[in-house]
Amino acid sequence: MPDVLTPTSLRPVIEAVMRPDAAHDWHHIARVWRLARTIAATEPDVDDEILDPAVLLHDIGEKTPGRGNALVEAATVGPLLAPFGIPPHKLPAIVQAINEHSYSRGLAPSSIEAAILQDADRLDAMGAIGVARAFAVGGAKGRPLYRPDDSTSTIQHFYDKLLKLKDGMNTAEGRRLAERRHSFLEQFLSEFLAEWGDDPFP
Ligand code: NI
Repeated sequence: MPDVLTPTSLRPVIEAVMRPDAAHDWHHIARVWRLARTIAATEPDVDDEILDPAVLLHDIGEKTPGRGNALVEAATVGPLLAPFGIPPHKLPAIVQAINEHSYSRGLAPSSIEAAILQDADRLDAMGAIGVARAFAVGGAKGRPLYRPDDSTSTIQHFYDKLLKLKDGMNTAEGRRLAERRHSFLEQFLSEFLAEWGDDPFP
């Protein structure tokens, strides 16, 4: 009998292949999985044998600066899923959903499973956790928190990406969940900029 695929049963596989950072670690995967399950519960005709593996393996592709995750291939994903009894004919849809999720690649999702994964991953870039992740990534890259004249600051990343995520949600539940997280991003920004004020020694 194959193992049943669950977050717990796949966790050792994920941790063996993922190169984690503070924003992309097992706990990010676990949060995205929970968000994806929440969205999936509101959508008809979701294939869990496609959605669950795609969500759990969505960040195994290596990150390339500015271009998101490298594309993954069935030859990589197939062996990882082999012990879990996922029907092989579902592998192309799993790989496609993984490859369509990246924000920087800018692809429209071609299945409900890809749409849910995109929404869930983007929700984790919003709200309080989104703020924490943005500064963790910015700090690791040596970026300033903020400079009014520096387009590489983490605050600039809010305008370049994070504040745009709400309007790109694919599903009704994704849109609903994005509202509160988007409001928090706006609230955080306004507090941050008020505290920053006019820098006396820019
Ligand atoms: Ni992710």
